[in-house]
Amino acid sequence: MINVPKGTKDMLPAESHKWQAVEAAAKKTAALYNVKQIRTPVFESAELFLRSIGDSTDIVNKEMYIFEDKRGRKMALRPEGTAGVVRSVLENNLIECLPQKLFYIEGVYRYEQPQAGRYREHHQFGTEFFGSELPCFEVELLSMAHTFLREIGFSDLCLRINTIGCDKCRAEFNAALREFLRGVGDVICADCKRRAEINPLRTLDCKVPSCREVYKNAPKISDFLCDDCKAHHAAVLAGLDAAGIKYVEDKNLVRGLDYYTRTVFEFCDGNLAVLGGGRYDGLCEQLGGKHTPCVGFGCGIERLIAAAESRGIEFADAKPTVYVAAQCDGARCECANIVAKLREGGISAETDLMGKSLKAQFKYADRQGFMYVLTVGESEMCSGALKLKRMSDGQTFDVGRDTLVADVENAGK
Ligand code: HAM
Repeated sequence: MINVPKGTKDMLPAESHKWQAVEAAAKKTAALYNVKQIRTPVFESAELFLRSIGDSTDIVNKEMYIFEDKRGRKMALRPEGTAGVVRSVLENNLIECLPQKLFYIEGVYRYEQPQAGRYREHHQFGTEFFGSELPCFEVELLSMAHTFLREIGFSDLCLRINTIGCDKCRAEFNAALREFLRGVGDVICADCKRRAEINPLRTLDCKVPSCREVYKNAPKISDFLCDDCKAHHAAVLAGLDAAGIKYVEDKNLVRGLDYYTRTVFEFCDGNLAVLGGGRYDGLCEQLGGKHTPCVGFGCGIERLIAAAESRGIEFADAKPTVYVAAQCDGARCECANIVAKLREGGISAETDLMGKSLKAQFKYADRQGFMYVLTVGESEMCSGALKLKRMSDGQTFDVGRDTLVADVENAGK
């Protein structure tokens, strides 16, 4: 037997309605905000991720699935969605008309140590807005994220928000942080020691508990913000207040990707981020395009479903409508005709494909959750008068062969 790769999961039929509900909520919310869908390849040139996510991040350093194609080109499975979307937007000149607002639903690949809520393949509903440096861009994006989470049924996920400033204020902050890190000596992990020199901000994202303890006393970016960044952050928070979106300011929130500027945020379920993102004003230029300010988020669908289930949120599961059971072999052809008629009328229907007995057909219909069973035998074929049985309570309804669709629609009304 060959098994599913470590850190990945099959989406099985019993789970599919949850995924469909999440995707439907994502698409419905995107339509409300006039956000259009984009699909980019599952693999890109590895260089794209090195240049965008940052070569001192864990995602690029330790977690990328990299391979060489037959011509020896270095490719990578996407470890996140933003870089590919930015590449496509620049390549296809989609920034001609701004703002450009895009969403995607796609698989993402990170070679992580699998644990609860952390997989090697996960799926994201992501959104990227291109074009505005105004604080209302963040507010619009967060309003969309908030609407999506409400559509799923959440009312309590905590929005944590911070600003990590612009290049100018971050240069001063990094210098102070580097100084602090030199002072703490050997208590931090080997990764943090390396990060301390090349990209000190990254240390604040370390997951090692002893490091996190040390960083509680580290300098705070809020003390190094320039006036513009301070004003921008205040305006984002005021916009959230006006939109009635609750948040908690978290001055230690930095996130694990290098492209962010100013606003960063996460909607969390306990310690686990379900949806995270921020502003990334420098990325388009970094990837060879013209300066285009952007904001975006990625929502982990596996984590979202787990968080919803732990709160008792239910996902709608549409039941099939009519099972047409054959009482005898002579009725099978008529069953197939009835099924075809129902389907033409937009009613989901099925008949036996296995040569099952009538009893076994009823058992199957019950297991599949059919709302009604319509039994066809010799007498029904002669008279054209059919009986529709409601499975929930056994009540029967008269259905005519020629008025089938309307009669099924009206049954029990
Ligand atoms: P991220 O925080 O790395 O951001 O991932 C977004 C979300 O994906 C997380 O909040 C989490 O729910 C989920 N996630 C991440 N890694 C895993 C994993 N190993 N297993 C299960 N779920 C996971 C990004 O990817 C950015 N591209 C978000 C963004 C878009 N920023 C701007 N635009």
